[in-house]
Amino acid sequence: MKRILVTGGAGFLGSHLCERLLEQGNDVLCVDNYFTGSKSNIAHLYGNPHFEVLRHDVTVPLYVEVDEIYNLACPASPIHYQHDPVQTTKTSVHGAINMLGLAKRLRSRILQASTSEVYGDPEVHPQPESYWGRVNPIGIRSCYDEGKRCAETLFFDYWRQHNLPIKVVRIFNTYGPRMHPNDGRVVSNFIVQALRGLDITIYGDGSQTRSFCYVDDLIEALVRMMGTPENVTGPVNVGNPGEFTVLELAQLVLRLTGSAGRLVFRPLPADDPKQRQPDIALARDVLHGWSPAVQLEEGLERTIGYFRDRLVRLG
Ligand SMILES: NC(=O)c1ccc[n+]([C@@H]2O[C@H](COP(=O)([O-])OP(=O)(O)OC[C@H]3O[C@@H](n4cnc5c(N)ncnc54)[C@H](O)[C@@H]3O)[C@@H](O)[C@H]2O)c1
Repeated sequence: MKRILVTGGAGFLGSHLCERLLEQGNDVLCVDNYFTGSKSNIAHLYGNPHFEVLRHDVTVPLYVEVDEIYNLACPASPIHYQHDPVQTTKTSVHGAINMLGLAKRLRSRILQASTSEVYGDPEVHPQPESYWGRVNPIGIRSCYDEGKRCAETLFFDYWRQHNLPIKVVRIFNTYGPRMHPNDGRVVSNFIVQALRGLDITIYGDGSQTRSFCYVDDLIEALVRMMGTPENVTGPVNVGNPGEFTVLELAQLVLRLTGSAGRLVFRPLPADDPKQRQPDIALARDVLHGWSPAVQLEEGLERTIGYFRDRLVRLG
Protein backbone atom coordinates (compact mmCIF):
# COMPACT_ATOMS: atom_id res chain seq x y z
CA MET A 1 0.00 0.00 0.00
CA LYS A 2 1.36 3.44 -0.96
CA ARG A 3 0.81 6.69 0.96
CA ILE A 4 -0.19 9.26 -1.61
CA LEU A 5 -0.57 13.01 -1.22
CA VAL A 6 -3.07 14.80 -3.48
CA THR A 7 -2.90 18.61 -3.26
CA GLY A 8 -6.12 20.24 -4.41
CA GLY A 9 -7.80 16.95 -3.49
CA ALA A 10 -11.16 18.56 -2.66
CA GLY A 11 -11.46 20.06 -6.14
CA PHE A 12 -13.10 18.72 -9.27
CA LEU A 13 -10.24 16.57 -10.59
CA GLY A 14 -8.62 16.03 -7.18
CA SER A 15 -11.71 14.44 -5.66
CA HIS A 16 -11.98 11.94 -8.54
CA LEU A 17 -8.27 11.19 -8.20
CA CYS A 18 -8.57 10.58 -4.42
CA GLU A 19 -11.48 8.22 -5.10
CA ARG A 20 -9.54 6.33 -7.74
CA LEU A 21 -6.37 5.98 -5.60
CA LEU A 22 -8.43 4.69 -2.66
CA GLU A 23 -10.13 2.13 -4.93
CA GLN A 24 -6.66 0.89 -5.84
CA GLY A 25 -5.97 0.22 -2.14
CA ASN A 26 -3.75 3.22 -1.35
CA ASP A 27 -3.63 5.48 1.68
CA VAL A 28 -4.61 8.97 0.53
CA LEU A 29 -3.82 12.32 2.15
CA CYS A 30 -5.95 15.07 0.62
CA VAL A 31 -4.60 18.60 1.16
CA ASP A 32 -6.75 21.59 0.26
CA ASN A 33 -7.43 25.16 1.39
CA TYR A 34 -11.02 24.99 -0.01
CA PHE A 35 -10.53 28.05 -2.20
CA THR A 36 -12.44 26.44 -5.05
CA GLY A 37 -12.76 22.91 -3.70
CA SER A 38 -15.42 21.83 -1.25
CA LYS A 39 -15.99 19.30 1.47
CA SER A 40 -19.06 18.06 -0.39
CA ASN A 41 -16.77 16.75 -3.15
CA ILE A 42 -15.03 14.40 -0.73
CA ALA A 43 -17.65 13.89 2.03
CA HIS A 44 -18.46 10.42 0.69
CA LEU A 45 -14.84 9.39 1.39
CA TYR A 46 -14.75 10.50 5.06
CA GLY A 47 -15.72 7.06 6.39
CA ASN A 48 -12.80 5.36 4.64
CA PRO A 49 -10.00 4.67 7.18
CA HIS A 50 -7.42 5.07 4.39
CA PHE A 51 -8.55 8.62 3.63
CA GLU A 52 -7.25 11.65 5.52
CA VAL A 53 -7.86 15.36 4.92
CA LEU A 54 -5.71 18.32 5.89
CA ARG A 55 -6.79 21.96 5.48
CA HIS A 56 -3.58 23.56 4.28
CA ASP A 57 -2.42 26.18 1.79
CA VAL A 58 0.37 24.88 -0.46
CA THR A 59 2.07 28.29 -0.52
CA VAL A 60 3.20 27.31 3.00
CA PRO A 61 5.70 24.42 3.38
CA LEU A 62 4.26 21.05 4.35
CA TYR A 63 5.98 18.28 6.29
CA VAL A 64 4.37 14.85 5.89
CA GLU A 65 5.61 11.37 5.01
CA VAL A 66 4.32 10.03 1.69
CA ASP A 67 5.52 7.89 -1.23
CA GLU A 68 4.00 9.87 -4.10
CA ILE A 69 2.69 13.40 -4.66
CA TYR A 70 0.09 14.59 -7.15
CA ASN A 71 0.23 18.41 -7.23
CA LEU A 72 -3.19 19.64 -8.38
CA ALA A 73 -3.69 22.63 -6.07
CA CYS A 74 -4.53 25.70 -8.17
CA PRO A 75 -7.79 27.34 -9.19
CA ALA A 76 -8.40 26.31 -12.79
CA SER A 77 -11.16 28.52 -14.15
CA PRO A 78 -10.60 32.15 -15.23
CA ILE A 79 -13.26 33.49 -12.85
CA HIS A 80 -11.47 31.90 -9.89
CA TYR A 81 -7.85 32.41 -10.88
CA GLN A 82 -8.46 36.05 -11.83
CA HIS A 83 -10.20 36.74 -8.51
CA ASP A 84 -6.83 37.03 -6.73
CA PRO A 85 -4.16 36.83 -9.45
CA VAL A 86 -1.23 37.33 -7.09
CA GLN A 87 -2.38 34.39 -4.98
CA THR A 88 -2.79 32.34 -8.21
CA THR A 89 0.84 32.88 -9.17
CA LYS A 90 1.91 32.14 -5.59
CA THR A 91 -0.10 28.92 -5.57
CA SER A 92 1.55 27.72 -8.78
CA VAL A 93 5.07 28.88 -8.03
CA HIS A 94 5.43 28.72 -4.24
CA GLY A 95 3.19 25.64 -4.24
CA ALA A 96 5.52 23.93 -6.73
CA ILE A 97 8.60 24.93 -4.72
CA ASN A 98 7.07 23.60 -1.49
CA MET A 99 5.88 20.33 -3.01
CA LEU A 100 9.15 19.79 -4.87
CA GLY A 101 11.05 20.47 -1.65
CA LEU A 102 8.93 17.86 0.09
CA ALA A 103 9.49 15.35 -2.74
CA LYS A 104 13.24 16.01 -2.62
CA ARG A 105 13.37 15.34 1.12
CA LEU A 106 11.35 12.14 0.71
CA ARG A 107 12.87 11.11 -2.65
CA SER A 108 9.29 10.57 -3.78
CA ARG A 109 7.76 10.75 -7.22
CA ILE A 110 5.88 13.97 -7.93
CA LEU A 111 3.38 14.72 -10.67
CA GLN A 112 2.45 18.22 -11.75
CA ALA A 113 -1.02 18.99 -13.12
CA SER A 114 0.07 21.46 -15.78
CA THR A 115 -2.20 22.83 -18.44
CA SER A 116 -2.72 23.37 -22.14
CA GLU A 117 -2.71 27.08 -21.22
CA VAL A 118 1.10 26.90 -21.31
CA TYR A 119 0.63 26.99 -25.12
CA GLY A 120 -1.26 30.31 -24.83
CA ASP A 121 -2.94 31.30 -28.10
CA PRO A 122 -1.09 28.81 -30.30
CA GLU A 123 0.00 29.25 -33.93
CA VAL A 124 0.47 25.46 -34.16
CA HIS A 125 -2.52 23.20 -34.33
CA PRO A 126 -2.93 20.66 -32.77
CA GLN A 127 -0.27 21.36 -30.14
CA PRO A 128 2.54 18.81 -29.66
CA GLU A 129 4.65 18.94 -26.47
CA SER A 130 7.61 20.30 -28.47
CA TYR A 131 5.70 23.54 -29.21
CA TRP A 132 6.88 26.31 -26.86
CA GLY A 133 3.67 28.30 -26.92
CA ARG A 134 2.58 31.88 -27.46
CA VAL A 135 1.74 33.38 -24.10
CA ASN A 136 1.07 36.98 -23.15
CA PRO A 137 3.19 37.62 -20.02
CA ILE A 138 1.22 40.69 -18.86
CA GLY A 139 -2.43 39.88 -19.61
CA ILE A 140 -5.27 38.91 -17.32
CA ARG A 141 -4.68 35.18 -17.92
CA SER A 142 -0.94 35.45 -17.29
CA CYS A 143 -1.13 34.73 -13.55
CA TYR A 144 -2.35 31.25 -14.47
CA ASP A 145 -0.47 30.63 -17.74
CA GLU A 146 2.88 31.98 -16.60
CA GLY A 147 2.48 30.54 -13.10
CA LYS A 148 2.02 27.09 -14.62
CA ARG A 149 4.94 27.64 -17.01
CA CYS A 150 7.18 28.63 -14.12
CA ALA A 151 6.02 25.55 -12.18
CA GLU A 152 7.08 23.39 -15.15
CA THR A 153 10.48 25.14 -15.16
CA LEU A 154 10.87 24.34 -11.46
CA PHE A 155 9.93 20.70 -12.02
CA PHE A 156 12.54 20.31 -14.77
CA ASP A 157 15.22 22.12 -12.75
CA TYR A 158 14.60 19.83 -9.77
CA TRP A 159 14.89 16.89 -12.17
CA ARG A 160 18.15 18.18 -13.74
CA GLN A 161 19.69 19.57 -10.56
CA HIS A 162 18.48 17.06 -7.93
CA ASN A 163 17.65 14.04 -10.08
CA LEU A 164 14.10 14.07 -8.74
CA PRO A 165 11.63 11.65 -10.42
CA ILE A 166 9.16 14.15 -11.92
CA LYS A 167 6.07 13.73 -14.10
CA VAL A 168 4.51 16.69 -15.89
CA VAL A 169 1.09 16.33 -17.49
CA ARG A 170 -0.43 19.10 -19.61
CA ILE A 171 -4.15 18.78 -19.09
CA PHE A 172 -6.54 19.97 -21.77
CA ASN A 173 -10.18 20.98 -21.07
CA THR A 174 -11.68 18.33 -18.83
CA TYR A 175 -15.29 18.13 -17.72
CA GLY A 176 -17.53 15.91 -15.64
CA PRO A 177 -19.46 15.64 -12.38
CA ARG A 178 -18.25 17.97 -9.55
CA MET A 179 -17.28 20.83 -11.83
CA HIS A 180 -18.28 24.09 -10.20
CA PRO A 181 -21.70 25.24 -11.39
CA ASN A 182 -20.69 28.93 -11.55
CA ASP A 183 -17.07 28.93 -12.62
CA GLY A 184 -17.66 30.27 -16.11
CA ARG A 185 -16.18 27.21 -17.84
CA VAL A 186 -17.94 26.52 -21.07
CA VAL A 187 -19.34 23.04 -20.31
CA SER A 188 -20.69 23.82 -16.84
CA ASN A 189 -21.96 27.22 -18.01
CA PHE A 190 -23.96 25.77 -20.87
CA ILE A 191 -25.36 22.88 -18.81
CA VAL A 192 -26.45 25.05 -15.90
CA GLN A 193 -28.00 27.65 -18.18
CA ALA A 194 -29.83 24.94 -20.14
CA LEU A 195 -31.12 23.15 -17.02
CA ARG A 196 -32.40 26.46 -15.64
CA GLY A 197 -34.17 27.11 -18.94
CA LEU A 198 -32.05 30.23 -19.50
CA ASP A 199 -30.54 31.43 -22.76
CA ILE A 200 -27.10 29.98 -23.52
CA THR A 201 -24.36 32.61 -23.64
CA ILE A 202 -21.75 32.18 -26.34
CA TYR A 203 -18.68 34.43 -26.26
CA GLY A 204 -17.68 35.45 -29.79
CA ASP A 205 -19.47 33.83 -32.73
CA GLY A 206 -19.01 30.30 -31.38
CA SER A 207 -16.60 29.28 -34.15
CA GLN A 208 -13.67 28.94 -31.69
CA THR A 209 -12.92 25.27 -31.12
CA ARG A 210 -12.29 23.29 -27.96
CA SER A 211 -11.62 19.66 -27.16
CA PHE A 212 -13.33 18.12 -24.15
CA CYS A 213 -11.97 15.22 -22.11
CA TYR A 214 -14.22 13.31 -19.71
CA VAL A 215 -12.85 13.22 -16.15
CA ASP A 216 -12.52 9.39 -15.94
CA ASP A 217 -10.24 9.35 -18.99
CA LEU A 218 -8.09 12.09 -17.52
CA ILE A 219 -7.72 10.38 -14.12
CA GLU A 220 -6.73 7.13 -15.84
CA ALA A 221 -3.96 9.02 -17.65
CA LEU A 222 -2.67 10.70 -14.46
CA VAL A 223 -2.43 7.37 -12.63
CA ARG A 224 -0.73 5.69 -15.60
CA MET A 225 1.71 8.59 -15.87
CA MET A 226 2.72 8.24 -12.22
CA GLY A 227 3.47 4.57 -12.88
CA THR A 228 5.75 5.16 -15.89
CA PRO A 229 9.52 4.44 -15.66
CA GLU A 230 11.71 7.18 -14.13
CA ASN A 231 13.02 8.35 -17.49
CA VAL A 232 9.48 9.38 -18.52
CA THR A 233 9.23 12.94 -17.23
CA GLY A 234 6.85 14.47 -19.72
CA PRO A 235 5.60 16.99 -20.44
CA VAL A 236 2.82 14.82 -21.81
CA ASN A 237 -0.40 16.23 -23.27
CA VAL A 238 -3.53 14.59 -21.94
CA GLY A 239 -6.93 15.38 -23.35
CA ASN A 240 -9.42 14.33 -25.95
CA PRO A 241 -8.43 15.38 -29.47
CA GLY A 242 -12.04 15.36 -30.71
CA GLU A 243 -12.55 18.98 -31.76
CA PHE A 244 -15.88 20.80 -31.51
CA THR A 245 -16.85 24.40 -32.02
CA VAL A 246 -18.36 26.13 -29.02
CA LEU A 247 -21.52 26.50 -31.09
CA GLU A 248 -21.71 22.71 -31.65
CA LEU A 249 -21.30 22.13 -27.92
CA ALA A 250 -24.11 24.57 -27.14
CA GLN A 251 -26.44 22.86 -29.61
CA LEU A 252 -25.62 19.42 -28.17
CA VAL A 253 -26.30 20.61 -24.61
CA LEU A 254 -29.64 22.09 -25.71
CA ARG A 255 -30.62 18.78 -27.31
CA LEU A 256 -29.52 16.55 -24.39
CA THR A 257 -31.21 18.70 -21.74
CA GLY A 258 -34.34 19.32 -23.82
CA SER A 259 -34.01 23.00 -22.94
CA ALA A 260 -36.05 25.66 -24.69
CA GLY A 261 -33.28 28.27 -24.15
CA ARG A 262 -31.97 30.31 -27.09
CA LEU A 263 -28.37 31.01 -28.07
CA VAL A 264 -27.19 34.56 -27.32
CA PHE A 265 -23.83 35.99 -28.41
CA ARG A 266 -21.50 38.25 -26.33
CA PRO A 267 -18.06 39.81 -27.08
CA LEU A 268 -15.05 37.52 -26.73
CA PRO A 269 -12.93 38.19 -23.59
CA ALA A 270 -9.26 39.25 -23.94
CA ASP A 271 -6.70 36.53 -24.75
CA ASP A 272 -9.36 33.87 -25.32
CA PRO A 273 -7.68 31.19 -27.47
CA LYS A 274 -9.31 30.56 -30.85
CA GLN A 275 -8.32 26.92 -31.15
CA ARG A 276 -7.22 24.34 -28.63
CA GLN A 277 -6.65 20.69 -29.45
CA PRO A 278 -4.16 18.25 -27.95
CA ASP A 279 -1.78 16.12 -29.94
CA ILE A 280 -1.83 12.97 -27.78
CA ALA A 281 0.58 10.79 -29.78
CA LEU A 282 3.12 10.88 -26.93
CA ALA A 283 0.49 9.97 -24.31
CA ARG A 284 -0.65 6.97 -26.39
CA ASP A 285 2.97 5.88 -26.58
CA VAL A 286 4.20 6.32 -22.98
CA LEU A 287 0.89 5.56 -21.22
CA HIS A 288 0.60 2.04 -22.69
CA GLY A 289 -1.92 2.78 -25.40
CA TRP A 290 -4.05 5.13 -23.28
CA SER A 291 -6.61 7.07 -25.25
CA PRO A 292 -9.89 8.71 -24.26
CA ALA A 293 -12.75 6.20 -24.15
CA VAL A 294 -15.75 8.38 -23.29
CA GLN A 295 -17.45 10.16 -26.20
CA LEU A 296 -18.66 13.74 -25.73
CA GLU A 297 -22.35 12.86 -25.84
CA GLU A 298 -21.99 10.12 -23.19
CA GLY A 299 -19.83 12.30 -20.94
CA LEU A 300 -22.25 15.20 -21.26
CA GLU A 301 -25.18 12.96 -20.30
CA ARG A 302 -23.37 11.90 -17.09
CA THR A 303 -22.44 15.50 -16.31
CA ILE A 304 -25.96 16.75 -16.99
CA GLY A 305 -27.25 14.03 -14.59
CA TYR A 306 -24.93 15.34 -11.87
CA PHE A 307 -25.98 18.96 -12.36
CA ARG A 308 -29.67 18.03 -12.51
CA ASP A 309 -29.38 16.39 -9.04
CA ARG A 310 -27.35 19.26 -7.69
CA LEU A 311 -29.71 21.95 -8.91
CA VAL A 312 -32.68 20.02 -7.45
CA ARG A 313 -30.87 19.81 -4.08
CA LEU A 314 -30.02 23.53 -4.15
CA GLY A 315 -33.59 24.37 -5.13
N1 LIG B 1 -10.22 20.87 -15.25
C1 LIG B 1 -9.48 21.18 -16.29
O1 LIG B 1 -9.99 21.22 -17.41
C2 LIG B 1 -8.00 21.48 -16.13
C3 LIG B 1 -7.28 21.78 -17.30
C4 LIG B 1 -5.92 22.05 -17.17
C5 LIG B 1 -5.29 21.97 -15.96
N2 LIG B 1 -6.02 21.67 -14.84
C6 LIG B 1 -5.29 21.66 -13.57
O2 LIG B 1 -5.73 20.59 -12.76
C7 LIG B 1 -5.74 20.99 -11.39
C8 LIG B 1 -7.11 20.75 -10.79
O3 LIG B 1 -8.08 21.50 -11.50
P1 LIG B 1 -9.65 21.40 -11.22
O4 LIG B 1 -10.34 21.55 -12.51
O5 LIG B 1 -9.92 20.22 -10.38
O6 LIG B 1 -9.88 22.76 -10.43
P2 LIG B 1 -10.51 23.02 -8.98
O7 LIG B 1 -10.53 24.49 -8.80
O8 LIG B 1 -11.78 22.27 -8.85
O9 LIG B 1 -9.45 22.34 -8.03
C9 LIG B 1 -8.32 23.00 -7.51
C10 LIG B 1 -8.23 22.67 -6.04
O10 LIG B 1 -7.06 23.29 -5.50
C11 LIG B 1 -7.41 23.91 -4.27
N3 LIG B 1 -6.47 25.01 -4.04
C12 LIG B 1 -6.37 26.17 -4.73
N4 LIG B 1 -5.37 26.93 -4.22
C13 LIG B 1 -4.84 26.21 -3.19
C14 LIG B 1 -3.79 26.45 -2.29
N5 LIG B 1 -3.07 27.59 -2.33
N6 LIG B 1 -3.52 25.51 -1.35
C15 LIG B 1 -4.23 24.36 -1.29
N7 LIG B 1 -5.23 24.07 -2.13
C16 LIG B 1 -5.52 24.99 -3.08
C17 LIG B 1 -8.84 24.36 -4.46
O11 LIG B 1 -9.51 24.62 -3.25
C18 LIG B 1 -9.43 23.19 -5.24
O12 LIG B 1 -9.90 22.18 -4.38
C19 LIG B 1 -5.32 22.46 -11.36
O13 LIG B 1 -3.95 22.54 -11.05
C20 LIG B 1 -5.55 22.93 -12.77
O14 LIG B 1 -4.69 23.97 -13.13
C21 LIG B 1 -7.36 21.44 -14.91
